[in-house]
Amino acid sequence: MKYGKAVFCSLALVAGLTVTATAGGQKPKPGIKRSTFGKMSDGQTIELYTLTNKNGVQVGITNYGGRIVSILVPDRQGQMADVVLGFDNGNDYLGANPYFGAIVGRYANRIAKAKFTLDGVEYKLAANDGPNSLHGGLRGFDKVMWKATELAKENSALELTYLSKDGEEGYPGNLSVKVTYTLSDENELWIDYHAATDKDTVLNLSNHSYFNLAGEGHGDILQHLVMINASRFTPVDGTLIPTGELRNVHSTPFDFRQPTAIGARINDDDEQLKLGRGYDHNFVLDRKGSGMTLAARVTEPVSGRVLEVRTTQPGIQFYTGNFLDGTIHGKGGKVYGHRFAFCLETQHFPDSPNHPSFPSTELKPGETFHQVTVFKFSTTP
Ligand code: GLA
Repeated sequence: MKYGKAVFCSLALVAGLTVTATAGGQKPKPGIKRSTFGKMSDGQTIELYTLTNKNGVQVGITNYGGRIVSILVPDRQGQMADVVLGFDNGNDYLGANPYFGAIVGRYANRIAKAKFTLDGVEYKLAANDGPNSLHGGLRGFDKVMWKATELAKENSALELTYLSKDGEEGYPGNLSVKVTYTLSDENELWIDYHAATDKDTVLNLSNHSYFNLAGEGHGDILQHLVMINASRFTPVDGTLIPTGELRNVHSTPFDFRQPTAIGARINDDDEQLKLGRGYDHNFVLDRKGSGMTLAARVTEPVSGRVLEVRTTQPGIQFYTGNFLDGTIHGKGGKVYGHRFAFCLETQHFPDSPNHPSFPSTELKPGETFHQVTVFKFSTTP
């Protein structure tokens, strides 16, 4: 409770309203600050870690679900705004919400009919999205407490670890997971995922931040310009499970190879857009070999804020907040309406355990799972 009061005050400030880092002269000091964010029903403290870089950019992360709760970045005039949806205090995250800012796992995205077979054994999962399993099941990584360690490094870095026990949510193997968030002075948020298992298992980790580069709660995202570095995407069936086809984006509303407004084609008479109620699809990244590649770039024309996503992953889910319907009141009581945010979830393809032709999501004892995603913030002139 040491920092309790201070936090709630500064949080109210940060909570989504536009603040100028330079107004009043002082930029916040670079480093990490820990404060109390809330309390679990069993008494455990929900902590908030605020990472600050030398430009005054701030990222708030909580140990509950390893969630990114705020990202304060400047517009082209230097005005700071919080560009992710979420809540002002930790307890609000305990209630129903669509994975705001969370680490999702063990399997980000969907597994068809909530089951898969590995080494001849069928594993059954919770069907929490119609017939399918979504984002790790009933109590996925978004709803567990992570152990947080502040890393003494040049940049502000926070390490989160979690041990998922053999059989948890139906998945085999004791899985130890480590996610490190690092904020650089280049305004990059690095998310570094590591995992190891003691039995053959499947794994797909992602982050589920909801971005609005105009500032959270500032209307819909239909004017944002999006570029996705992908010539193919994975079309889905009526339950949003990939059919297995890798379809060329050419001459479809899924061609984002040139920057295009999200709203330009979202309501087109297109079977895939109808199934997704908008964009809710995995794109197959155009990459040369493995390693880091540019996945997407999003520009908000009025503020000039730019988000660039780079990743080691083969795919990215582009989701346009189609299920947001104004029932959630977020930071400062703001209403989060239909398509008030977009997600860019770097990942392996949905339902890979049931699609042998997709890049494998299997992890075996002795192997180390390692994936990296970078969210870089800048502005256009
Ligand atoms: C993912 C899914 C969406 C939706 C959201 C959470 O992005 O692809 O269909 O379930 O999570 O609401």
